[in-house]
Amino acid sequence: MDVIAVDDPTDEQIRQWHAVLLAVHGDDPAGDAPEPEHTAARLLGAEQGSRQRFWAAVEDGEMVAVAALRLPGEPGADRPGEIDIRVRPDRRREGLGTRLLSEAAGGLRADRRSSVLAQVTAGTPAIPFLESHGFRCVLTLSGLLLHLDDVPAERVAALVAAGPAGYELVRWQGVVPDEYAAALARAKHAMADMSAYEGVPWDADRVREMAEMVNKRGDALYTVAAVQGTVVAGFTEIVVPALGPERAAQYDTAVVPEHRGRRLGIWVKAAMLEWLRHERPEVREIETDNSGDNVHMLAVNEELGFRHQRESREYQASAADLPA
Ligand SMILES: CC(C)(COP(=O)(O)OP(=O)(O)OC[C@H]1O[C@@H](n2cnc3c(N)ncnc32)[C@H](O)[C@@H]1OP(=O)(O)O)[C@@H](O)C(=O)NCCC(=O)NCCS
Repeated sequence: MDVIAVDDPTDEQIRQWHAVLLAVHGDDPAGDAPEPEHTAARLLGAEQGSRQRFWAAVEDGEMVAVAALRLPGEPGADRPGEIDIRVRPDRRREGLGTRLLSEAAGGLRADRRSSVLAQVTAGTPAIPFLESHGFRCVLTLSGLLLHLDDVPAERVAALVAAGPAGYELVRWQGVVPDEYAAALARAKHAMADMSAYEGVPWDADRVREMAEMVNKRGDALYTVAAVQGTVVAGFTEIVVPALGPERAAQYDTAVVPEHRGRRLGIWVKAAMLEWLRHERPEVREIETDNSGDNVHMLAVNEELGFRHQRESREYQASAADLPA
């Protein structure tokens, strides 16, 4: 068994990598089956503002396990790396996951990162695997799904019409207009529950960078904000992927603390549903993750008709605790 770095993957290596992802998905079919184009895009193109490293465990010329490490920001940036390890179901409990984790730990240290995050599904082998390697759960997320056909257009229209006095709805696709860039960054601070563990401050440049990254992937970012003049009091973001636009992904939603309690959250989300229905009628579902302790956002989503799907968790470990 060899562990190799796959820094410049060949077509054959992309095919083998994809075969491992398919085998893992076949064993535990949470979510959609991986598409070959997604795998190729992931392996060939790093997202803007981040680098990636890849390793694979290979036996008799065939990959049996793979690991991807995402490194956001510059080397040494005070941000955790993000690890994703997949071991073919027929080759588990042989130490392959551990071997790939130690390779990735070397990659983390080489990039001067002090910690790493992993996002996994509750009730899967990933939990005992990570816990056996010193990872701790730092966030619990409820995966929710909304079927747009379940939400009558009249209900959405009524919610939009019931917006609080003194606010105005604005919307844009792609990068935020300059006049709202700094205000949107301030509103993103309102998502303290989500970003505290990452410790990364939002500023206008990072807000633009995120939107450019989505554009570069070919996906479409939609934002609806409730504003007072140029102050963004609350906003919501949806990304419609280029591949598989039937299922859109909820990105951030936040209401600035001093504007809470006025139903701005449900207002911007309802306005988003109305906009998408006209602008992107092919969208059938919206998927979102809510922090388990974010009771207000969960209540808003349940009122809109989102239903619980699964629980996912973020685990974190310090690089120093990982296997050498
Ligand atoms: C999680 C995963 C990567 C583990 O890979 P693996 O090669 O089986 O892990 P290892 O053999 O290195 O296991 C190391 C230790 O983790 C723990 N562990 C791993 N799988 C476990 C399970 N199913 N039940 C209980 N403990 C488990 C054990 O302590 C194990 O040591 P032991 O076998 O000596 O008891 C693999 O199950 C997988 O690919 N799952 C699907 C994808 C996924 O969820 N990845 C996690 C993202 S980081």
